[in-house]
Amino acid sequence: MRLASSGTFFLLLCLVLFNMGCGNEPFTQGKNLYTTHCENCHMANGTGLGGNIPPLAQSDYLQTQQQKIACIIRYGQADTIVVNGVTYNEPMAGVKTLNEVQLANLINYLNQAWGNDYGFVTVEQVHQQLVGCK
Ligand code: HEC
Repeated sequence: MRLASSGTFFLLLCLVLFNMGCGNEPFTQGKNLYTTHCENCHMANGTGLGGNIPPLAQSDYLQTQQQKIACIIRYGQADTIVVNGVTYNEPMAGVKTLNEVQLANLINYLNQAWGNDYGFVTVEQVHQQLVGCK
């Protein structure tokens, strides 16, 4: 496939996947990916775990760092970060197997789960983020 058309292709694919997930249970793919790859640390209800694993539910970090969430998921992160006033410095390993559509669906799930209301990302925005990962 030509490079110029791949963005459009992903966008269409995303719309298809997104629509499939828009029945009674929205964000189906994102939720399934969360269960598979994230839940054992961040917990099913997004609370994280004690002082080691930061929360994703009502996380001010997730809310304010939207421009780097795709990078964190793909490449992991080993910084000292502050989430809701608590300092965390355990490393998180990246999940390299998720493609851009899966990342968008997963982030949109995080952004809307557990009472979060942090907006939506497009596949193109995820792509741009990944190009700029440090
Ligand atoms: C092995 C445990 C583990 C797994 C699995 C894991 N994380 Fe993390 N996650 C962490 C830790 C520890 C940090 C803190 C990293 C740091 O201090 O830089 C973190 C930080 C984060 C952050 C930024 C801080 C926050 O709370 O908002 C996000 C977003 C995040 N993880 C999302 C995910 C997603 C999505 C997945 C699944 C693809 C996932 N994590 C899988 C342990 C994990």
